[in-house]
Amino acid sequence: MTAPSIVIDPAVSERLHQRIDTLAAYSEEDDCLTRTVFSEAMQSARQSLHQWMESAGMQVTVDPLGNIAGRTPGTTSTRRLLIGSHLDTVRNAGKYDGALGVLLGLACVEQLSACGIAVPFPIEVVGFADEEGWKYQTPYLGSSTVMGDFQPEWLARKDETGTTLQDALEASGVSADHLGRNRDPVSAYWAYLEAHIEQGPVLETADCAVGVVRFIAGQTRASVTFTGRAGHAGTTPMALRHDALPAAASWIGAVEEHGRSIQNLVATVGRLHVEPNVSNVIPAKVELTLDLRHPDNEVRLTAVQHLHDIAINIANGRSISAEWILTQDQPAMACDEKLCAALQTAASTQNPRAPMLISGAGHDAVAVSQHLPVGMLFLRCRDGLSHHPDEYAHPSDIDSCLAVMVDFLRRSAESRLYDEF
Ligand code: HGY
Ligand code: MN
Ligand code: MN
Repeated sequence: MTAPSIVIDPAVSERLHQRIDTLAAYSEEDDCLTRTVFSEAMQSARQSLHQWMESAGMQVTVDPLGNIAGRTPGTTSTRRLLIGSHLDTVRNAGKYDGALGVLLGLACVEQLSACGIAVPFPIEVVGFADEEGWKYQTPYLGSSTVMGDFQPEWLARKDETGTTLQDALEASGVSADHLGRNRDPVSAYWAYLEAHIEQGPVLETADCAVGVVRFIAGQTRASVTFTGRAGHAGTTPMALRHDALPAAASWIGAVEEHGRSIQNLVATVGRLHVEPNVSNVIPAKVELTLDLRHPDNEVRLTAVQHLHDIAINIANGRSISAEWILTQDQPAMACDEKLCAALQTAASTQNPRAPMLISGAGHDAVAVSQHLPVGMLFLRCRDGLSHHPDEYAHPSDIDSCLAVMVDFLRRSAESRLYDEF
């Protein structure tokens, strides 16, 4: 006998949608949504979550980096299900990327109690403090720290102002060696579930509200610096210049051309910094970032090597130097098959055509998957648009995703899925 499908409690739904807007108001910029790990905006977001989690009867903890977690009561011997996503955003972000996954986790807890479903395992809802990694060029800083994978070499990574992660931690009263301390061992959990907007067009094209993520594409991030020599823009003949900017420009052209030449490859130069950045001085140095992704690791790594070699050749040809620093090298990963199957069953109650998807975007599930089985749900977002203020998910799609998550929890309890991990 199939269990009745989940009907979302109107009060739970209303709170969920209000909270999306409440968190979206916490920004470190006046005219757009930007929220980074050590900002006051992030503290405000945590304070609201702290209240909401406590009013849902959860015990709340915040670690030294600012990862916040709320846990439902339950015997400590029982392994927990971790549900969450990230609270940080890119610059000029939309209001769903990350925060929605945290709020959906909290809404699951509230919906379970509203419809009187008891699951035999505690649920821990987590809001990771830094997933996007654009500020310090660190991969999954929040979830890596929770999983015990913080890398000391990240401390020297700098933001755009030249402030290192170490300085920023100390300025926020945290000493680096506290990171990851007192965290629970990964054995305290049986799995991780993350719900996220798709940030792509597949669900909209398939006219489906929710899909299951099967794979997440691998990604490589690097910072590349071309160094030439400054000089007077008016007195230095063109033939005698060591101009870093045209070198960078021809490499950026090569990046785009290569990205277009290989199917499913995406390659982006998202950040460019010129020194001294003065109109009548020949650019001495250009720092830029590369973000390159592909579902196949070998294709990705070959493309990275190719673009690395082009950077060196361009520099040599112009008698300038090129420095290449790998900042992230994340293989493509598969979500856990058993979790995918269970999520697919739950998603099919909402829509028998719920697809399995490949994610081009990275997610905290990548960092968590190093230690725990992970499952991910995607929900439709308009035009597949994300990392943009016009990012939008329809409230009914959000409620559909919540219903799928709660149905998954109910089925996991009934089938004792948690015993299989
Ligand atoms: O860039 C990404 O893949 C994600 O938004 N962090
Ligand atoms: Mn995200
Ligand atoms: Mn993002």
